[in-house]
Formats: sequence, C-alpha cells, structure tokens
Amino acid sequence: MDRSITIVGASGQMGKWFANFFLSRGWTVHLFSRTPEKIAMLKKELKIAHVKGKVSFTTDFHECVPKSAWIMLSIPATSHEETIAAVAPLMKKDAVLFDIASVKGTIPAILLAARSKHGIHVLSTHPMYGPGTESMRNKNFILVDLEGDKNVLDEFKAIIEPERPTIIEATAQEHDRMIAYTLGIPHMLNILFGKFLKDQHVDIEKLVSFEGTTFHLQHLISQEVVTQEPYIYATIEIENQEFIAMLSEFKNATEILIELIKNKDYDGFTKEFLAIRENYARVAEFKSVGQRFNSAARRSLDIIKDGKESK
Ligand SMILES: NC(=O)c1ccc[n+]([C@@H]2O[C@H](COP(=O)([O-])OP(=O)(O)OC[C@H]3O[C@@H](n4cnc5c(N)ncnc54)[C@H](OP(=O)(O)O)[C@@H]3O)[C@@H](O)[C@H]2O)c1
Repeated sequence: MDRSITIVGASGQMGKWFANFFLSRGWTVHLFSRTPEKIAMLKKELKIAHVKGKVSFTTDFHECVPKSAWIMLSIPATSHEETIAAVAPLMKKDAVLFDIASVKGTIPAILLAARSKHGIHVLSTHPMYGPGTESMRNKNFILVDLEGDKNVLDEFKAIIEPERPTIIEATAQEHDRMIAYTLGIPHMLNILFGKFLKDQHVDIEKLVSFEGTTFHLQHLISQEVVTQEPYIYATIEIENQEFIAMLSEFKNATEILIELIKNKDYDGFTKEFLAIRENYARVAEFKSVGQRFNSAARRSLDIIKDGKESK
C-alpha cells in the first residue's frame, strides 16, 4: 500500500494527533495549514525528533494533494464543502479522500459528488476519542462505507486494525443518530452543569470542599468537556439534525422530572428511577457499575491529592 497522506487541518488538535500517529508508523506525511504562522507553531509542537517517516509542511494544496494516496480532512464539519471543492480536483484518481468529522450531515453527499465528478475514492470515518488519548486501542472507530463495496473501507481497516480499536460500521444517518446520544446529549448536560454553576455564582473552590463522589465525577466530565475547542463542540450541538430533532423531547423529559419533584410525587419519581435502572441493566457492564465508578473517582482524587495515580 502507498503510505503517503496529506492531513488538512494539521494544526488542529486531531490533525496533530494523526500527524504523530502516521509519522510514528513510517508514513510520508504532508501537513497542510492555511497559514504560515500555524505551520511555524506546528513544527515546534510536533514530536518529529522521533519519527520514522518523512514529513513536509505546506500552505498550498498543489504541493501535497497530488503526491498523496490518502487525504484526511481534519477540519470543522462546516468547512468540508469548500475544502473538498479545492482538494478533490488535485487528487490522484486512485487516492482516497476521507473525513473524521463528528457530525456527518451533508458531508457524505459532498464526498460522493466529488467522487462522481473527479473519479476519486471516498470514505467517512469518526474516531471516537479526543486528542488527549494515548492510543486508539479499545476506543471505538466508526466507519461509513460511502462507496458501498467495502474496498476502500477494508483498506482503511487494514491501517487501523493493528492498533486494536473497536471498529464499528454504520450508515451516515445511523452515525448522526447515535452520535446525538453519545456526544450531543452528554456534551449538552455537561455544558448545562457548568453553565448552571457559573450563573449561580457558586464559589467552585468552596463547592469542591463539600463534594461527594458523584459531584467529583460529574464536575470532572464537565471540566473536560469545556477544555475542548468551542467551535468544534458547537458543530456537534448545532449541525447534527438528529440531535436538533431530539431537543423538544429532551425539554419534555426535564419538565416531567421537575413536575414530579415539585409535586412531591415519590411514587412517580421512584417509578421513573427504577425504569431507568432496568433499562441500564440490560447491558452486562451494568453489573460492575459500583466498582468502575469508585475506581474512576479514586484515581482522579489520588492525582489531585497525592499528585499521582495510585497503582
Ligand atoms: N476534538 C475531538 O475530540 C474530535 C474527535 C473526533 C473527531 N473530531 C473531528 O475532527 C475534526 C477536527 O477537530 P479538531 O478538534 O482537531 O478541531 P481544531 O483543533 O479546531 O482543528 C481544526 C483545524 O481545521 C482548520 N480549519 C478551521 N477552520 C477552517 C475552515 N473554515 N476551512 C478549512 N480549514 C479550517 C484549522 O487549521 P488551519 O487554520 O491551520 O488551516 C484548524 O486547526 C472535526 O471535524 C471534529 O468534529 C474531533
């Protein structure tokens, strides 16, 4: 296999992650950014002292796209149309153009239109981990077989399989619907949690001195969510039509719970509570919930209080 790749959006968080990934595995990697300033920063930040592959940096698609067998789009969901229009005409005919966007929306249709027009190959992917992740081992990696014959999908699988991620195949619509649940809703809950504390002007330091384990983990997730790139997180909430369609049901569920609480409806509350537990209990991992919950909290508290994770 021709192991050459252009990463568009290489100055971004995932772009840098994949630059390190491909370089450390001996690939020839062309890193594209729109601005020389970001290229200069990227050169400083990348761990290229230890790379096995070759690396080049450019602000010009002509210098990288025609030389690459794979073109990765690591850019916001909203900028794919314009970028695909610029990249696709410059690609080799057997090269593969693929995205890693967290929301698919119209991206698959735009990729397929570029395939029809320019005779290139296309694929849609979504690594279900963030830039702080050490490796893709045991992380979910979603693949959308846009061409329908699995050829390009299998080639991509062969690249990532040795890293032992859990590969999931889905349609673009199924991707967006599931992602509405696995990213849209949890991000929203955690942004809401942080917003509520901020708007209440609660003294966070004092609050932490009153925390229990549940607050500790909830606060940890909320903190982690808001350390991410705001524009990318906005696209996850704003561009996923499957998520937008869920918002009114989300509001209804909140109102139902508020009413139960206001009405001191113990029976209603208990019924909802047990129904949720029963729903979770359908999955085997529920059996170890206490162990995993306490282990995550202990590890986090050890880092805060002892400066390191306990064994
Ligand atoms: N962060 C995550 O946890 C995560 C996980 C899985 C998938 N993803 C997906 O990966 C992609 C990149 O996310 P990220 O977190 O790496 O974002 P990011 O840090 O904001 O990086 C995106 C890069 O895209 C380029 N870019 C920005 N606006 C652009 C535009 N209008 N046209 C062309 N290029 C533009 C920028 O590079 P230059 O300015 O240098 O050109 C920027 O550095 C997104 O589609 C996201 O949904 C993210």
